Amino acid sequence: MAILVTGGAGFIGSHTCVELLNAGYDVVIADNLYNASEKAVDRVKQITGKDLKFYKADIRDKEAMNEIFEKEEIESVIHFAGLKAVGESVVKPLEYYENNIAGTLVLCDVMRNHGVKNIIFSSSATVYGDQKPPYVETMPKGECSNPYGWTKSMMEQILTDCAKADSELTVVLLRYFNPIGAHSSGKIGEDPQGIPNNLMPYVSQVAAGVREQLTIFGGDYPTPDGTCRRDYIHVVDLACGHVKAVEYADSHKGVEIFNLGTGTPYSVLEIVHAFEKSTGVKLNYRIGERRPGDLPDSWA
Ligand code: NAD
Ligand code: WQD
Repeated sequence: MAILVTGGAGFIGSHTCVELLNAGYDVVIADNLYNASEKAVDRVKQITGKDLKFYKADIRDKEAMNEIFEKEEIESVIHFAGLKAVGESVVKPLEYYENNIAGTLVLCDVMRNHGVKNIIFSSSATVYGDQKPPYVETMPKGECSNPYGWTKSMMEQILTDCAKADSELTVVLLRYFNPIGAHSSGKIGEDPQGIPNNLMPYVSQVAAGVREQLTIFGGDYPTPDGTCRRDYIHVVDLACGHVKAVEYADSHKGVEIFNLGTGTPYSVLEIVHAFEKSTGVKLNYRIGERRPGDLPDSWA
């Protein structure tokens, strides 16, 4: 029996595959390589010294997905596949709804047709909207500020409704805070195309001389140093959270929500100074305008 990891060649997916293989699970990846490279899959094999099955497949392609479920004995699905750039989702809402929602509908249908009863879903703290942190799982969801966030909120609802209709189905909704970092082997990590949207890859690229200067988005927020605070969680800790979720799903039914964060916020300036201290590299940065849609504070 194997775990199907959709989007398993991506940043969080590849780290999760390492932890699943290390924990003794068989792994099957389905990824269309839209935002990843098959090299990451080879690196996962190198790191673990274990084999896995890779299918270059789009989760919206029902025929391809059916073929995977027919060939492989899938016991649980971890569903990472999706588009994730917040700014791009504002410009291309239809592409985001189509890829994320339609893909999830096909995946759920194929799972149902093959009697697969466990799904662990990559959700996001963004579903809490603009409320006062700390965010806890029992809070009602809030208004999302962009189409990407709404796809996450809607997919949570779709999976919850599927579990209401099928009492045998287990749905684990994992709400990630801010995943950062890379595997200690240095073989896999976050490698965004073009100009990074997220803080840590931008900081790394400035330190490496790929980009000239980091702009800190806003220095006048109502926070201790005026810059936004976030709950940054190491990607390997996040990956281990998925192994725990697979174990949890084996012995529970219905829907459960878990935040994956640390509970401790750090400001942008604190992150910049911690990076400088641990690498010994001085970062060229300036304080600029606020970025539209940013919340001052977010933590689990
Ligand atoms: P990523 O882009 O590195 O990984 C997503 C993977 O899905 C990529 O490998 C991509 O090629 C694949 N993919 C996209 N559409 C597909 C499709 N239709 N069929 C098959 N494969 C497809 O992103 P990530 O940072 O590893 O994020 C993984 C998941 O976690 C995403 O669902 C994302 O929304 C969610 N998430 C990420 C963050 C974050 O900050 N990185 C935070 C919260 C939630
Ligand atoms: C972190 C902090 C920025 C870049 C996003 C999504 C969220 C989730 C995680 C997927 C903020 C500041 C950033 C820069 C900066 N993704 N910053 N200069 O916005 O907390 O969350 O990624 O689900 O849904 O919204 O993460 O890394 O973009 O920003 O000052 O060049 O760094 O203002 O305070 P964010 P981020």
